[in-house]
Amino acid sequence: MPPEQADIERAVALLQAGQLVAFPTETVYGLGADAANPPALARIFAAKGRPAEHPLIVHLAGAGCLDRWACDIPALAWELAEAFWPGPLTLILKRAAGVPTAVTGGQDSIGVRVPAHPVALALLRAFAQAGGGVAGMCGLAAPSANRFGRISPTDAAHVREELGNSVSLVLDGGRCPVGIESTILDLTRDPGLPPRLLRPGHVTPEQIASVIGMLPEVLTQAADDGRPRVSGSLAAHYAPATPLRLVASTELAEVVAELRQTGRHSAILCHSEFPGVAATLAVRQLAAHPRGYARALYAALRELDQMAADLIVVEAVPATPAWAAVADRLRRAAVGAGQTTDSANRHR
Ligand code: TXA
Ligand code: MG
Repeated sequence: MPPEQADIERAVALLQAGQLVAFPTETVYGLGADAANPPALARIFAAKGRPAEHPLIVHLAGAGCLDRWACDIPALAWELAEAFWPGPLTLILKRAAGVPTAVTGGQDSIGVRVPAHPVALALLRAFAQAGGGVAGMCGLAAPSANRFGRISPTDAAHVREELGNSVSLVLDGGRCPVGIESTILDLTRDPGLPPRLLRPGHVTPEQIASVIGMLPEVLTQAADDGRPRVSGSLAAHYAPATPLRLVASTELAEVVAELRQTGRHSAILCHSEFPGVAATLAVRQLAAHPRGYARALYAALRELDQMAADLIVVEAVPATPAWAAVADRLRRAAVGAGQTTDSANRHR
């Protein structure tokens, strides 16, 4: 059931009171709080179990309130906002004076985006109309509504599973249509240098280049100063509790047969047909195109993670630009998988 006006009003009242409200965006569900209210921000970090130095993305109803949050906004930012907002692109800009340090993790930059989901937009507009929270800043900080390092939720039920009662209200907008987190682009570099892609997503480098006339530089490792500027850039992220291994398409059948011989239970995530994969194994076949695959990826990983398998075997996706964002999430899931000790308790 999509939220009604009364649900949006209740959500706004909770946000104004400094409470947490989870809401759908086109990418994944966000865990929202008034971004200008430090005690509310502290609740986000506590609910997620997220270290305080990880900055949050501020969600706005439109680019009109951007200069409350950012300063020295380059022309490129306005062009990108015009082209891609509302939509799954987060811009990193210099932060304006008066922005709480909790929202930026102590950095001098700020991440902002205007989400394209109708429920998120209705919430942001109603929040702004009701005064926009502390100092009328009209921004909602919203990290993905999962426990730190785990799989992002793409469905309201996933949010409940992740956060339980630590969130006051979950607005249910059904499944998120994009399914993986927004593209993050750093525009705080010196003029003349190309912007830096901090996290690949639905909005591609080529699309960005078509607007600003240059390809962003792709960041391959953590920021120069070693601080975790993008928590998604930590190698271990978006991870299930079950160990996960990426296997080339050509080796999948062999690896599965080998696992079966050694009596290990594996769950398989693929995008090609695999006739003859034993019925004793759980097999999820996703779309063979990146957008359809991305939409279903996290729900599938979550489901396979709950099957008490010894291993999740994922068929590697093609090494082409169109698959880059999906490949990024799979790589991180493989590194982070099976690292928490609660996996055994959770599933067995
Ligand atoms: O699609 C999305 O972006 C979702 C939905 C809810 O909007 N949100 C999301 O938030 O993915 P989160 O917190 O899970 O990931 C946001 C990323 C973090 O990795 C954070 O480090 C990075 O954005 N970030 C935020 N502010 C930043 C800044 N000032 N500089 C660099 N990275 C920043
Ligand atoms: Mg996240």
